[in-house]
Amino acid sequence: MTHDEILSWLRQTDPARLARLWREADAVRQEHVGGDVHLRGLIEFSNRCVRLCGYCGLRAANTKVERYRMSADEIMQCARLAVRLGYGTVVLQSGEDPGVTRDWMAELVRRIKGETPLAVTLSLGERDEADLAAWRAAGADRYLLRFETSNRALYDRIHPPRDGQTSDRLTLLGVLRRLGYEVGSGVMIGIPGQSYDDLARDIELFAALDLDMIGVGPYLAHPDTPLADPRDMPLLLPDDEQVPASEEMTYKVIALARLACPRANIPATTALATLNGTDGRELGLERGANVIMPNVTPPQYRVHYEIYPNKACLAETAETCGRCVAARIEAIGRAVGVGPGPSPNYLKDSR
Ligand code: SAM
Ligand code: SF4
Ligand code: FES
Repeated sequence: MTHDEILSWLRQTDPARLARLWREADAVRQEHVGGDVHLRGLIEFSNRCVRLCGYCGLRAANTKVERYRMSADEIMQCARLAVRLGYGTVVLQSGEDPGVTRDWMAELVRRIKGETPLAVTLSLGERDEADLAAWRAAGADRYLLRFETSNRALYDRIHPPRDGQTSDRLTLLGVLRRLGYEVGSGVMIGIPGQSYDDLARDIELFAALDLDMIGVGPYLAHPDTPLADPRDMPLLLPDDEQVPASEEMTYKVIALARLACPRANIPATTALATLNGTDGRELGLERGANVIMPNVTPPQYRVHYEIYPNKACLAETAETCGRCVAARIEAIGRAVGVGPGPSPNYLKDSR
């Protein structure tokens, strides 16, 4: 797809034409990654964060958040629960938390890999190469690090670096690739200041980076963040340039990501379920997605991992979400994937 073709899909409003995009994405998904929907048990194990991302409720300056870090034993219990619920992968996600040390995390990864058959995906933000290497050596399989937007000026405004450092997620994605991780990235859709042109470039960058996993979801404003208040962050674009953070735009990006990266694993995300709790994830699965990440974080911690308000499944238990997700997948005629479900893109060449 050319830049102009992507742009014209992003601006398309005709339902009949969009139906064609959904059909094409669904067919490409079936051909390249099959009908199985892989489940990843999401463990939000620490909401401590030193960063000041303008969009995220966990940013260090938000004093309204009650902070927690789960113990290794608590995380192991979640991992065992994920196995009992039939999941083949756990995703360990946290804020950028220096209290999560290289050695502690490596030992935890070794325990999960030694005591369970799970694949381990990490999503701990921007960490040193030595940390990433130690965790890979301990057995971690995959790493998720969204580049958030390919517009460097917008990125710098909404994602300030740590003191005296630069934030370069694209370079880190290269490091992860070199270390042999399955590499996942993605963007938020409808960030204030994000233009259609920016979003088209994001999708082109998914292909250029040859991503194994692509996570995209709508930007959802959190009231206790600078980005939610235009006076704090004046990023206004003319209405016909600003990408809406809408459900339909999210489906378009899922579908175009599938066409751009046919063999990638693409989740129907919690942020999408937050916009449409009725059938957002199902529609995502029918328009290019092939993964769901049910939450296995204990409810007493889950409520404090509030990156945006009204997050789906905030009060549910892991068991409830497991049953719910399996029923939704079967209701649309798809099957729950068995085993770790690596990305066919990663398997295509021996990296
Ligand atoms: N701290 C790690 C990081 O930043 O990569 C992992 C956790 S962070 C909460 C995971 C993702 O949440 C981010 O990459 C970002 O895309 C998404 N996110 C944060 N705030 C959001 C918001 N207000 N709306 C939608 N997504 C958001
Ligand atoms: Fe921290 Fe990640 Fe939220 Fe940024 S997006 S404030 S790094 S948890
Ligand atoms: Fe959590 Fe439906 S997935 S209740």
